[in-house]
Amino acid sequence: MYILLLVLETLMSYVSACLVSVGIKDTHSPVDCESAANWLAMNSSDYQDPNWVRQNTVPCPRCELRIIENQDWSLKMKCLPPCSYDFCWRCRGVWTEHGGENGLDLYTCIHDEYEETVLGNTAESAADRYRDCHQNWTNNESLMQLAKAKLQQLHTDIIPGLSNKQLATVQQLQFIAEAWSQIMESRRVLKWSYAYAYYLREDQVEKQAFLKLKQDKAEIPLRKLYNYAEDELNALLDSDGPSENFNKFRSDLSDWTRITRITTSFL
Ligand SMILES: *[C@@H]1O[C@H](CO)[C@@H](O)[C@H](O)[C@H]1NC(C)=O
Ligand SMILES: *[C@@H]1O[C@H](CO)[C@@H](O)[C@H](O)[C@H]1NC(C)=O
Ligand SMILES: *[C@@H]1O[C@H](CO)[C@@H](O)[C@H](O)[C@H]1NC(C)=O
Repeated sequence: MYILLLVLETLMSYVSACLVSVGIKDTHSPVDCESAANWLAMNSSDYQDPNWVRQNTVPCPRCELRIIENQDWSLKMKCLPPCSYDFCWRCRGVWTEHGGENGLDLYTCIHDEYEETVLGNTAESAADRYRDCHQNWTNNESLMQLAKAKLQQLHTDIIPGLSNKQLATVQQLQFIAEAWSQIMESRRVLKWSYAYAYYLREDQVEKQAFLKLKQDKAEIPLRKLYNYAEDELNALLDSDGPSENFNKFRSDLSDWTRITRITTSFL
């Protein structure tokens, strides 16, 4: 109980800190607040278009994440955390070389303009990467919304109806709501894991592979849980009276919920 409270408290402080700094209400672990805000602000059709990406963004010289040009055309670029590198849009040099004794303003650069080469992080590969991550983000977002709707329906109609039919109390049927609540939570975490994947450096091959492994590990029991929750629940709803499979349904569904909770927590 104490540990649960501790976890809840940490989670709440995380959410509220983010609400204050960037105004996001959705819990977005494993992504940090600033990156999550940035992700939500990205115009998805623009970022999937290599021409737009080439003209409007520049790769950070340190981590290669593409950063959008400042709206006021000022030259000082700041990469997202944890990189947070300050650099010049025009010459791609470290920003401190513009300030100090040189005393230059935000719009002046006396170095040579950086020449884009065909090698390295191209606009094409950045747009491809974004498209993949965004697609899986959106798919998981819709699956999360479906689970959310189902959960509401469970509370208003399904559980009360099932309670009459299976001669169980509403309280005894809470494990069904817990299963759907876990499905919703796992889809939420998976969804944000795709934004997290996008912000990983392209050369962080091991980290990317490890994340992919964890995503797959979370996806497998989640699908089982989903299919089981959906099919067996429908079977119970279709039965005429108390079903002899009810106890098995309860213990199996609770097991899959627990396994899914564990594999999701690794993300
Ligand atoms: C996103 O970009 C597209 C194409 O540039 C544009 O038509 C659309 O209005 C933009 N959407 C938003 C919400 O800014
Ligand atoms: C998106 O999901 C598909 C299907 O599971 C997978 O093949 C693909 O690798 C995923 N994309 C990313 C960027 O993880
Ligand atoms: C949701 O995320 C999983 C990765 O765990 C991915 O395989 C899948 O393509 C995404 N979308 C859907 C509809 O499952």
